[in-house]
Amino acid sequence: MARRIVFTSGKGGVGKTTICANLGATLSNLGFRVAILDVDIGLNNLDVVMGVEQRIVFDIVDVIEGRCRTTQALIQDKRYENLYILPSAHSYRGEEITGEDIKNVVCSLENTFDYIFIDCPAGVEQGFKRAIVCANEAVVVVTPHISSIRDADKVLSILSSYNLNEKYLVVNRVRGDLMVNGEMIDVDEIINFLHIPILGVVPEDDDISALSSLGVLGGSVSNRAWVLLAENLHNGTQKVFDCKQKYKGVLGALRRNIKRRI
Ligand SMILES: Nc1ncnc2c1ncn2[C@@H]1O[C@H](COP(=O)(O)OP(=O)(O)OP(=O)(O)O)[C@@H](O)[C@H]1O
Ligand SMILES: [Mg+2]
Repeated sequence: MARRIVFTSGKGGVGKTTICANLGATLSNLGFRVAILDVDIGLNNLDVVMGVEQRIVFDIVDVIEGRCRTTQALIQDKRYENLYILPSAHSYRGEEITGEDIKNVVCSLENTFDYIFIDCPAGVEQGFKRAIVCANEAVVVVTPHISSIRDADKVLSILSSYNLNEKYLVVNRVRGDLMVNGEMIDVDEIINFLHIPILGVVPEDDDISALSSLGVLGGSVSNRAWVLLAENLHNGTQKVFDCKQKYKGVLGALRRNIKRRI
């Protein structure tokens, strides 16, 4: 039976889709079967990030409206053989789609996969609600910025009224140099404020934005962070990537200085 995990944030653009895709790819490399559902109906994004945009034949709305079976709409990733995506419908308002509709799609995949990731739209409106009801666990994504942390706090209070077994935190786009300088909110402060278990920390990685526009996953700086994230999710551990380590000490001060100048 698959673990059904929704990736949510409240605030948009903090990295939900990036995390779904990279964590999914890493888990699939470890041998787990992963399906990622893009439920941001009308605003397809996951297919672009994963470079499968041109291979879409059917989408999630076709499944819901009975034009195809779920397995016909799934796209297998060419690089990660255990990774599949169910694309969202492009240019569709999606107001008639209910949480129950999406839940039925999720249930139809439950016995075929180890993990089903639900990539939630930004905000806390209808799209958010229908994504949450399909999941039994939630990953709340934040960046180390006040607006993102406040929105995550709001999302967490809404999530408490849903029947979720676990809620985890991922802190994305962390700049170790700024944290050591005291110019960015520290990960520990975020954990203390939001009070949920940490699943992982992902550093700011220029490769992510550069490669994602080419439909390629991964990044040299964040590689280790994805592996730790996948291991933590699967094993229930909390081995967090230390973004600050290389910016400590004499050599670290030099690196911080160089980073400031470029
Ligand atoms: N760790 C990171 N380092 C550098 N860039 C990142 C990182 N994480 C995400 N990004 C970039 O941030 C942008 C937004 O990421 P993404 O689309 O994953 O956010 P989102 O939360 O899914 O957005 P939305 O709320 O619109 O669905 C993308 O350009 C992505 O490449
Ligand atoms: Mg997204």
